[in-house]
This record gives sequence, C-alpha cells and structure tokens, in this order.
Amino acid sequence: MMGSDTASATLRFPAGFRWGAATAAYQIEGAARADGRARSIWDTFSHTPGRVQGGDTGDVATDHYHRVAADITIMAEIGLAAYRFSVAWPRIVPAGSGAVNQAGLDFYSRLVDGLLDRAITPLVTLYHWDLPQPLQDAGGWANRDTAARFAEYAQVVGQTLGDRVPTFTTLNEPWCSAFLGYGTGVHAPGIADNATALAAAHHLNLAHGLGTAALRDALPATGQVSLTLNLQQVRAASQSDADRDAVRHVDAVANRIFLEPVLRGRYPDDLVADLGHITDWSFVQDGDLAAIAAPIDVLGINYYFPTLVAAATAQLRELGATGAKSDPHGTAGPAPFPGTDLAFAVPQDGPYTAMGWRIEPASLTDLLLRVHRDYPGMPLLITENGAAYDDVVAADGSVHDPDRIDYLSGHLAAVHAAITQGADVRGYFLWSLLDNFEWAFGFSKRFGIVHVDFVTQQRRLKDSAIWYRAVIAANGLG
Ligand code: FCB
Repeated sequence: MMGSDTASATLRFPAGFRWGAATAAYQIEGAARADGRARSIWDTFSHTPGRVQGGDTGDVATDHYHRVAADITIMAEIGLAAYRFSVAWPRIVPAGSGAVNQAGLDFYSRLVDGLLDRAITPLVTLYHWDLPQPLQDAGGWANRDTAARFAEYAQVVGQTLGDRVPTFTTLNEPWCSAFLGYGTGVHAPGIADNATALAAAHHLNLAHGLGTAALRDALPATGQVSLTLNLQQVRAASQSDADRDAVRHVDAVANRIFLEPVLRGRYPDDLVADLGHITDWSFVQDGDLAAIAAPIDVLGINYYFPTLVAAATAQLRELGATGAKSDPHGTAGPAPFPGTDLAFAVPQDGPYTAMGWRIEPASLTDLLLRVHRDYPGMPLLITENGAAYDDVVAADGSVHDPDRIDYLSGHLAAVHAAITQGADVRGYFLWSLLDNFEWAFGFSKRFGIVHVDFVTQQRRLKDSAIWYRAVIAANGLG
C-alpha cells in the first residue's frame, strides 16, 4: 500500500499537527550522582558485568543534565514545536517513597521554562524505566505497592510542573518494563520469569490508573493525561491455523493486555484463559480494573517494526532454548515470545535498520487504523518512531544519513495515510533528538538526528536534522 512512491509525494499534515522529538532521562542525562539523585534499576543493571554491551552505563551518557541550555538551543535550531522527555524518578524521590528532592524538581522546572522560552511545548513522561533501586529491593513491579508509590511521585511532579506542562504521560512502554524487565530479563532488573512478568504488567497498569487519578488531582482542569504503548503489528509466519491463532494470542499478550484494561476496564477472556497454566491472575484485585480504566485524553504509540510470529512447536522450542533469549524480537533466530510459551517471534526479511529491525512503513498505517477501528474516538500521538544506523562523521564534520531520512519519510507518509483514512493522529515525536544510551546495546546504536561524540560530547546536526527542520517548516513532506 505504501512505499517509496507515496513517500516522495507532497504530503501536508492537518493544521496544528504537533512536530516533536523524544528522549528519556537515563539515556541522555548522565549526572548519575548529581544533586541528590540516587540509584535506579538501570544504574544497577548497567553496572552488572555482562548486562550491557561494552559495559556501557548511563553515568555520563550525553551529559544532558549539564548541557541542557545548549541542547534546548539545538531543538530551537531544528524548529521543534514540541519535546518529549522523561523525569527521572530517582532524582525526585530518591528513596522511591518519602522525602522529595527539591534539586531534582528544580532541574525539570528549568528545563520546562527553557523550552517555553523557545516556544517548544513540553510533553512529560513520568516513567521511562528508571525505577528507584529501593523499590526494586522491595520487589519492583512484581510488588503491588510500587503502583501506589508511583502515584505519590506522579502527584509531586504534577503539582510542580502542571502549571506549565499541558500533557503528562504516565508510563513509557509498560510492555518493555514488564516483559523485557521481568520476562526475558534483557532489561533491568534482569528477571526471567513469565509469571512474574504478568504480575508486573498488571501492577504497571495499576500504576497508570492510580497515577492518572493523582495527576487529575494535581493538574489544572485543562491538564491532559496519556499513556504510551509500544503496540505491535503482528503477522503470522504461515497461513496455518496454528500460526494464525498465534497472532491472536500474541496480540493479547502484547497489545490487548494493556489496551483493554486501560480503555475498556477488563482483561481479555482469551488472554486470561490462554495463560492459565502460567498464572492464576490472583494479583488482579477488586477495584483494580475500575482504577486502571480512568479516562485518558490521548494515547501515545511508539512504533519501529512489525512482528512475525509462529505457534510454539517442539522444533521451535529446541531452537529457542539454545538461541535467542537475548533477542526477544526474533531478529536473529526464533525466540520465545516474551510472557508466553505458546508462541515464538521469528526472523523477518529485510530491509533492516542497524538494530536488525525490518523496515515496513505500511505496517504502521495498518496499526493506526486498527487502533482507530477498535477504540474509536481516542486521539493518538506517535510518541516515538525512528531508526538506528552506523553513522559516520565526514571530514568536514557533516553526517550523511540518507537511510534514516528514508526510514523517517516512509513512516511519516504511513502516518499521513492513516490520517487520510480517518485515524485521529495529533502529532509525531521522532526518536531521538540525540544519539544516546540504547539500553542493553549501550552506545553502539545511534538513533539521533543529532550526532553525539561520546568522548568530547560534541553535538553535530546530521542531514536528517536538517531534513526534519524542512518537514516541520512545511508541515509535511515534499
Ligand atoms: C523504545 C524505547 C526508547 C528507545 C527506542 C529505540 O523501546 O522507549 O527508549 O530505546 O525504543
């Protein structure tokens, strides 16, 4: 449906479409011990040998904490109308509960003021994976109490920034927190147990619901609340009944496990039945679903690549056991789909980004139209989309990244196609403003439209940043 033909056409977005870029605290801030910040699960994880490629950590990252003024100037130079960043919980409530650290709040207050000075609208994510370590010591997201601690923290941030920030997002990609953090263990805290991951998913849903209520309490009446999900566009490896049923199952354990409780106040019957051999779901208590279904104003979607799945067979189980636990997307070989033993993620044909992720813009159109069809009336935001490539700085200091520009323009055209067909997409936040600490891949993967030299911290606009400036100015492509 989509492709390079449409990607190169002239496409204008609706008036008021919000053009932004996104980052996350642990990936860019550094200053891990500055001004009262305490350890998060990602500090612990990255300092554990063997967990992150190259032994990289976020101790310094892109040193954004100390370079925030210059980084805002770069955003203005690119012409960003909006900027999505996350607040580091361990800067605000270092012990995870109790005392609030004013110096941490002051940093984000200065950041928000600096953005507003440049007419850049802030979008604040409260949780982008950096759980205070003391909460993990008490069980982390496997412990129901963490949801209540999150609501307390949300209230503090809402009270401080709510007069200047129009939209807050409770959680970024709870799927990754639950299933990569507690299911496969490739993310912090590095636990590999599907039953624990399912409990974590529920407690994250509960945190979102309680956090939404806390924000409503703290924000002015105009304040907007959202949640960002990394929804997966799932397809079958073959047309067999078993593989087609694996699509239904994976859609349940990856997408509907969040969409249905948040937007409809229930867990899907098929999900509960399918995974009865892994958990009895007793962590779902009376009243939880009503709390989780607190109305939101906008749904954030992060999207990078489609997902190909097959039903579990004896042969796949054998391959998956020896192979790709560390690669939950099945990029290198079949991998058990996180959270379940009934389906596998399997490798897909190229083209690929440097992450090994298949590039297929049309799958984003399909996903947006599906959400529009199943949850009509919900305004949508693309809160992340982008690509890693092995960028090289040329002798004259320029960084030519035509592959990234292709990826981005293809996906923008895909968003445009979805809007044309009725999806209510309000904006697009490119991932990422800066090259940064890419979780288990450390500094080996560059997603930025601004190149960062991780030794000197020098920033250089890549060609994609200059291209994006023109897109923003034109409100579209071509
Ligand atoms: C998403 C994360 C973001 C970044 C991109 C590449 O899953 O939300 O922090 O790492 O992937």
